[in-house]
Amino acid sequence: MFHRDRCAQVIQVIVGLFLFLGLVGYTYGAEGPEPPTDLRCEYLSNPIGIDVREPRFSWVLHHTARAQVQTAYQVLVSSRPEGVDRDTGDVWDSGKVALSDSIQVVYAGKPLASGQTYYWKVRYWDTAGNASPYSATAQFEMGLLSRDEWKGQWIEGDMLRKELTLDGKIVRARAYVTALGYYELRINGEKVGRNVLDPAWTTYPKRVLYTTYDITRRLRSGKNALGAMLGGGWATLGERFFDPDVGPYYKAPALLLQVNIELEGGRTVSVASDGSWRASKGPIVSDSVYDGEVYDARREIPGWDRPEFDDSTWSAAQAVEGSKGTLSAQMMPPIRVIDSMLPVSLSNPKPGVYVFDMGQNMSGWVQLRVQGSAGTQVTLRFAELVYPDGTINRENLEAAKSRDIYTLKGEGQETYEPRFTYHGFRYVEVTGYPGIPSLDSLRGRVVHTAVGTVGSFVASKQILNDIQRLIHWSQLTNLFSVPTDCDQRNERQGWMGDAQATAEEAMMNFDMAAFYTNFIRDIRDAQAPDGQLPDTVPRKYGSIPGDLGWQTAYPLLCWYMWQQYGDRRILQENYEALKKYVEYLRSHAQDNVYRLHHEGDWVEVAHTPGDYIADVWYYYDVSLFSRMAQLLGKTAEAASYGRVAAQIKEALNRTFFNANTGNYANGTQTANAMALFLDLVPKDHHDDVVDNLTNDIVYAHNTHVTSGFIGVKFVMPVLTATGHSDLAYELAAQTTYPSWGYMVEQGATTLWELWQKKTGPAMNSQNHIMFGSVGAWFYNALGGINLSPDSVGYQHIRIAPQVVEDLHWASASVETLRGTVSSSWSHSPGVITLEVAIPVNSDAQVVVPAEEQMTDVAIREGDRVVWEKGHYVSGDPGLTGATQDGRAIIFQVGSGQYSFRLTAGE
Ligand code: BGC
Repeated sequence: MFHRDRCAQVIQVIVGLFLFLGLVGYTYGAEGPEPPTDLRCEYLSNPIGIDVREPRFSWVLHHTARAQVQTAYQVLVSSRPEGVDRDTGDVWDSGKVALSDSIQVVYAGKPLASGQTYYWKVRYWDTAGNASPYSATAQFEMGLLSRDEWKGQWIEGDMLRKELTLDGKIVRARAYVTALGYYELRINGEKVGRNVLDPAWTTYPKRVLYTTYDITRRLRSGKNALGAMLGGGWATLGERFFDPDVGPYYKAPALLLQVNIELEGGRTVSVASDGSWRASKGPIVSDSVYDGEVYDARREIPGWDRPEFDDSTWSAAQAVEGSKGTLSAQMMPPIRVIDSMLPVSLSNPKPGVYVFDMGQNMSGWVQLRVQGSAGTQVTLRFAELVYPDGTINRENLEAAKSRDIYTLKGEGQETYEPRFTYHGFRYVEVTGYPGIPSLDSLRGRVVHTAVGTVGSFVASKQILNDIQRLIHWSQLTNLFSVPTDCDQRNERQGWMGDAQATAEEAMMNFDMAAFYTNFIRDIRDAQAPDGQLPDTVPRKYGSIPGDLGWQTAYPLLCWYMWQQYGDRRILQENYEALKKYVEYLRSHAQDNVYRLHHEGDWVEVAHTPGDYIADVWYYYDVSLFSRMAQLLGKTAEAASYGRVAAQIKEALNRTFFNANTGNYANGTQTANAMALFLDLVPKDHHDDVVDNLTNDIVYAHNTHVTSGFIGVKFVMPVLTATGHSDLAYELAAQTTYPSWGYMVEQGATTLWELWQKKTGPAMNSQNHIMFGSVGAWFYNALGGINLSPDSVGYQHIRIAPQVVEDLHWASASVETLRGTVSSSWSHSPGVITLEVAIPVNSDAQVVVPAEEQMTDVAIREGDRVVWEKGHYVSGDPGLTGATQDGRAIIFQVGSGQYSFRLTAGE
């Protein structure tokens, strides 16, 4: 024993030394192209269970020198790890491909086999033609590619179990699992995986998503037990909440499972959900997304999910029809418990009533620790607000009961957290607690779709950072496999307007590519045969057809996927359905004007006519569609929809523009900003419309916004595009009503649904993301991170920070698919600095702004002068030129990190 340990130690030291020397050699030695990193397949790193037959790859490039591009790449994909280790790809060796593509590279090897794991790596050639070392090996695994591979049936039951005996060593085992509702899969006494509230919510009758788990190490030779607990989730949510024509989908939750096991010697065993499973009631008395969970720990069945449990009193599981929809792989980050939080305070506003304050409005639930006698019932009620007396205010939860009830089993310290519900809350009221709870009796569990954070924005003005924090929280806590409006009352819906308004912000802050890919398919699933789309997806609330500001999420999200991630496949896959949508709109327009509307500019302060807004969306949708057609090489359709767009524009101006006043519709901020954003305004009147917009903000409303969430998304970028970034900044930094800063000043920790502070029984969620669109403006305008016009996926970047008067500095960065793009500037009298990072294989225009009063401007990059006496000074590696445009000097730069410093003379 001793000897073996010593041996292991010596090996460890030797390995450590090699690694260290390797690293040193690597860091200090090699010049040139470095191995690619961040290998992704269908936007995911090392995904398990994908069902795209020609998956797309991306990688991030690194190089020690500036101004580097990829001149060629080679991808190897092998069915065995040893294959790639030997630099061979038995299923695909792309060979040296002389292309610069490092994102959206489509697999082009042998057909990929169901359930098979593949290993891949990539190298690239730099500008000078030097090859990089290969990347580390990544992998991806296919899911079940055909419906026939699912051998089982949908089965019902609260708790389901099945034993199996395996005679031999387990080489590989996979579980493919889904449910109508939610499931928790258990094997041999333990929960499998870390997903919660799985699978994602979809239009179940059309499509159900399954998750793939590697369960090789969970199974053992001999006896095993598989178990599942089921919850209703969105599948069974009752009539109490929805129109009869949209739900609930099913009476009871159901499970569909397929387990495939490979044993030593090549034998295979498969287990599927069917009537041979046993079913029982369990400790969950009731569960509902909106109402919470009722759990009686006395009804727990110890050992039920372990082998050799006596299930003779259980009944046979009931096989049901379930969903006849497509089974698709869940190819996006799952919902998970992301964090645990201790409450910040605990009060006792009434005898026996305890109120915990989490200090942050959040989505999820709490973990309760309690000790007491069997049958004691503890009730947890959730709220976003408290009354002045410290008791919870739940008026804004509407019909959602939002409470969890736990009945103790009376066996010492008990810990409980619910499985099949979630709440939106900052405060938790605890009643029925045996004894006096302490701060430690509850722990907040932050739950949402586990998207990675890719962006950061911070500036010298604290209120902006506070707003960014609110956006961050509201965005994340409104990701529950679909983008939701809110997380607390009986809605939590995929309201499409909210989704489109905040998608750009979300894409700067978080890794949204796989999430929106999924949601766009959800939208397609929800489309009616005639092309119209509902307000919510999956459809539960709202109308069909939805308001155009909501329906438009379909073309817009596709468009943002194209812009942000260069996703051409999304455009291809949705082209026909988008065309149907556009044709639906055309068939409902009269004389080229589309007027149907419901919401218009939702939660606005100044009213803008809904028919005008609808018509602007109509123009936007048709022109986007024409551009998509163009991109896909459908020239004739592009031209014909281009003509339709031109007719709509003409009709729109004829109907809604008043040339005498320079106003669209009734001249609100929303009305004029939308027209400016979409370039609807006749040239001669452009300045009048801009003046009307800025005058309305400054003089009529004392520098406040009056738009709802539909319009405000346009106001900020339009102000910047028309040279009024200082005014946009004042709106962003405003702290009186209506403004984002007002919410902060009033103590909000997430964004509100309304500009108004309201705490009564009406619609006034304290956590809505829809006003979060200003977050995109933070990155684009203040941070200065933009795509160059006509570029996508950050290949050509434009860094153009708006150095506004009141800010001393701002800093933004985004981990794009191609690598980190960042921009940080500072401003002091006579000096502006700008630090920029551009990933390998991208380039940028860097706009270094000078102030009006600055004369005799000189710019250094690092320690070299690059601009002097009105001219570009060449010689700095990475820079290829500079021009002056008004007060700004625009540098053309290749990849690398740059540090510009502008100084002015007297
Ligand atoms: C939702 C909104 C949504 C709106 C549209 C509200 O109840 O919370 O976010 O967009 O309805 O009707």
